[in-house]
Amino acid sequence: SSSASSDVDAFLGCLYADIPPRLVHTPSTNNYSALLLSSVRNLRYVLPGTVRPLVIVAVTEPGHVQTTVLCGRRHSVRIRTRSGGHDYEGLSYASLDPHQRFAVLDLAELRAIHIDAARAEAWVGSGASLGELYYAVAAANRTLAFPAGSCPTVCFGGHLSGGGFGSLARKYGLSADNVLDAVVVDAQGRLLNRSTMGEDFFWAIRGGGGESFGVVVSWKVRLVRVPETVTVFGIRRFRNQSAIDLVTKWQDIAPFLPRDLYLRVLVQNPQADFVALFLGRCGRLFDIMRRRFPELGMTQADCQEISWVQSTIFIEFFTTDKPLEVLLDRSNKPDYYLKVKSDHVQEPIPRHAWESLWEKWLDEPGTPPIMLDPYGGRMGSISPSATPFPHRDYLYQLQIYSFWFENGTDALEKRISWVRGVHKELEPYVSKNPRAVYVNYRDLDLGTNELEGNVTSYDNAKVWGEKYFKGNFERLAGVKSRVDPDDFFRNEQSIPPLRAAK
Ligand code: FDA
Repeated sequence: SSSASSDVDAFLGCLYADIPPRLVHTPSTNNYSALLLSSVRNLRYVLPGTVRPLVIVAVTEPGHVQTTVLCGRRHSVRIRTRSGGHDYEGLSYASLDPHQRFAVLDLAELRAIHIDAARAEAWVGSGASLGELYYAVAAANRTLAFPAGSCPTVCFGGHLSGGGFGSLARKYGLSADNVLDAVVVDAQGRLLNRSTMGEDFFWAIRGGGGESFGVVVSWKVRLVRVPETVTVFGIRRFRNQSAIDLVTKWQDIAPFLPRDLYLRVLVQNPQADFVALFLGRCGRLFDIMRRRFPELGMTQADCQEISWVQSTIFIEFFTTDKPLEVLLDRSNKPDYYLKVKSDHVQEPIPRHAWESLWEKWLDEPGTPPIMLDPYGGRMGSISPSATPFPHRDYLYQLQIYSFWFENGTDALEKRISWVRGVHKELEPYVSKNPRAVYVNYRDLDLGTNELEGNVTSYDNAKVWGEKYFKGNFERLAGVKSRVDPDDFFRNEQSIPPLRAAK
C-alpha cells in the first residue's frame, strides 16, 4: 500500500539522518544482494519467494544500532539482527511471514576483539567469529582458550545469546556460562550494560536467544586455562567391524569420562568416527582410554599432540595440516541447503535400535552424519536455571545434520523427509515431556508464533518454547514483558511477553 511505502521512505530518511548512506543497502542499491548473501549458510532461505529485508544496515558503531531501532519503531519496520547468519532456519535475515516488513541489522563489522591476557578476560564484538576469537586468544597466550562451538565461522552474537556448546563444555560449560558483561541496545534504543540492564535481562541474553530482547553489541567473557599441549585423535571404525557395538558402549562411557576428555562420535555410513580432545598429553590419554574404553582399541599412534588452537582446526577439519589463518576465513562458506533436527538422550539407546536405525535409514550413500556430543562433567554441575539453557543433566545431545547441494524441490522434499523420518524413529529413545531441544539448533518444525492482538501469543509459543527452555520459558517471557512489552523484537520463534492469566 502507499502508506506502507511512505513508511519505508520515512524509515530510510530517519536512518540517513544518523547513518552514512553507504552503510544502508536497499534492493535498488548495488551491494544489496552480495551483502545479503555474505553470511547466508542455508540456501533454503534465499530461494525465490523468500521474504527479504527492505533494508540491510551494515552498522559500524553501536550508535547505528540505536538509530535503526528507534527509526524502526517510529516507522513500523521490524528488525532482524544478524551476526554470523548461521541460524539453521535463517531467522536472522529471512521471514516466513510475507507481510512482515523488516530491516536486517548486520553486525559483521562490529567484530573488535580486545584481550586482557593478564586478567584472562576479553571484550568481543557480536560480529566476531569463533575462529577469529580462537586465533586472537592463542596469539595472546598459548594457555588461554574460550569454550565455544566447533564451526569457526559461527559468530558471537547468535552463538552466545543461544548458549554455545563445544569441545570444552565438559570442562568449562557453555560459552554463555562464561559471560561476565554485555552491551545491549534495548527496544527503546538505549545502550545498556550489565549493571544498567539488570540481572534478569542479563540472564535472558545468555541462552534465551538474544533476538527477543534487544541487540547485543558486545560481550565480556572469561577466558579459561588449557595446557600448552593438548592431544587429539580421530579413530574410524566401520560397520562391518565393530561400529554399532562401539557407539552403543560409547553412551555409557563418554558422559562419565574425566572432564579433561571430550569424545564425540559422528555416525555416517559406513563408519563411526570417534573424535577426541584431551587437555593433557598422549600418555595419560592412552591410560584413560585403556582403562575406560578398551573396546575402541586406541593406541599411542593415534595421538597428535598440538596446541589448543590447532585442536579447534582438527575438530572442524579432521586435519592438523591447515595454517591457523584458516580460522580467520569468514567467507569459508558452504553453499548448501540445510535441515537439522536434534535431541537429548537420557538413557542409552539400545543396541537393537542403533542396528535398525542403521539398517533402515543410514545404509544409503550420501546420508548425512548423526553427531553425538557428550555432556557430563561441568555441564551436569550447573543448575538448569542458572541460564535459560536448561539441558544440563542429559548423557548427550544428538544432531541429525542434513545438508545437500542439489537444487530443486524434489531434493528438498526428499532430504527434509529423511531428517524427519530419522527423528520419528528416534522418538521412543530420546528425552520426553518435553522432547528437549537446544535453541541454537533452531527447528521451526517445533512450532511457530501466532499473534494474539498485537503481540505474540504466549500459550501458543509455550508449545515450542518449553522444548527449548523447559521451566525457564515462563521466566524468559516475564523478562520480555518488562524489556519489550510491545513485542517489537519478534520473529517466528521469539519469546512472547508473559500475559496475566485470564
Ligand atoms: P545468526 O546471525 O543467524 O543469529 C542467530 C540468531 O541469533 C538469530 O535469531 C539472530 O537474530 C540472533 N542474533 C544474532 N546476533 C545477535 C545479537 N548480536 N543480538 C541479539 N540477537 C542476535 N552451535 C553450537 O553450540 N556448537 C557448534 O559447534 C555449532 N556448530 C555449527 C555449525 C554450523 C555450520 C552451523 C550453521 C551452526 C552451528 N551451531 C553450533 C549453531 C550456532 O551456534 C547458531 O546457529 C548460532 O545462533 C549462530 O550465531 P550467528 O551469529 O552465526 O547466527
